[in-house]
Amino acid sequence: MNKDVAIIQEFFNKINQFELPSTWDSHRNELKKIIGISEFFGENFDNSVIIGAGNLYDLPFNEIVENYEQTDLLDVDSATLIKAKDRVDTELQSKVNLITRDIVGYPEQISILDLQDLDKNSVAVKELLQQLFSAELCPIKIFQTQYSLAISSTVSSQLILPISKITDHSSNDEVIVMTKELGDVIADRHVKQVWDLLKRGGIGIISSEQYAWGSIDNSPLPLTKVINDPALMMDENIQSQIELIKGGLVINGRVTSESILHHIPQSNILKESEWIWQFDNELFYLVKCWVIIKDR
Ligand SMILES: C[S@@+](CC[C@H](N)C(=O)[O-])C[C@H]1O[C@@H](n2cnc3c(N)ncnc32)[C@H](O)[C@@H]1O
Repeated sequence: MNKDVAIIQEFFNKINQFELPSTWDSHRNELKKIIGISEFFGENFDNSVIIGAGNLYDLPFNEIVENYEQTDLLDVDSATLIKAKDRVDTELQSKVNLITRDIVGYPEQISILDLQDLDKNSVAVKELLQQLFSAELCPIKIFQTQYSLAISSTVSSQLILPISKITDHSSNDEVIVMTKELGDVIADRHVKQVWDLLKRGGIGIISSEQYAWGSIDNSPLPLTKVINDPALMMDENIQSQIELIKGGLVINGRVTSESILHHIPQSNILKESEWIWQFDNELFYLVKCWVIIKDR
């Protein structure tokens, strides 16, 4: 493994160390309902891929593995993938294949992550961001195959994290704006990546956090000062107001309806839904989810 992947792998391995929280039940049920809508999955059960499979905490993985001849679990964090495979029923494990990849394809300059103490406002940080804008991020060539089912569940916002960790709390507006724009670029290309790896008639499922409510490490999030109940994130009027303001009220690296429609014709979108994901006792996300189909 090259040095850059090892750095990203170590970064996510630390994040992936947690037990499945009981507060995830309704989020998992929403995804289970979608996977259970059999009319979407009528034609082809050759192979499936779970991108950013991580701990496999949110998806009904046994059902997926059972239904497809082969399932690839893909993540940059190979150690977590090995543990995740153990969660699949023993008699199904021979159908599961593990793939370790950095789907963003972070270039060598990312070894700047070694320099966590780097001045967040420095020219070096701006140069890194500029290099990333011109790099071919989220290339399709990372995948060797096309799939009957591809799932990317709450992955896109994670893809920018190694960069936002460097630029977090920067007081330089340019660095803040560039990080946000890079998150949008990566999310947009990730949608194209999922679309391109579907075979004809293949189904894609993309879920993505949109807004966060509550607090992280006892620090209240901006939206918490605007609405007093996380359920209000489902309210259309409130969503319209958030979308007007955007900034710190929306999740960096989220997939939006615009990024979906940028790559996928409206007629290929089978379903769009949303729900509240209670992440833990303090933190709630509004999640949007799209089910898409590649032309038959
Ligand atoms: C929020 S988790 C997905 C949760 C997962 N669906 C579950 O149920 O546990 C996001 C996953 O994306 C992976 N990831 C982040 N950046 C990645 C990259 N550049 N390439 C591949 N996987 C990546 C992380 O290691 C993590 O496991």
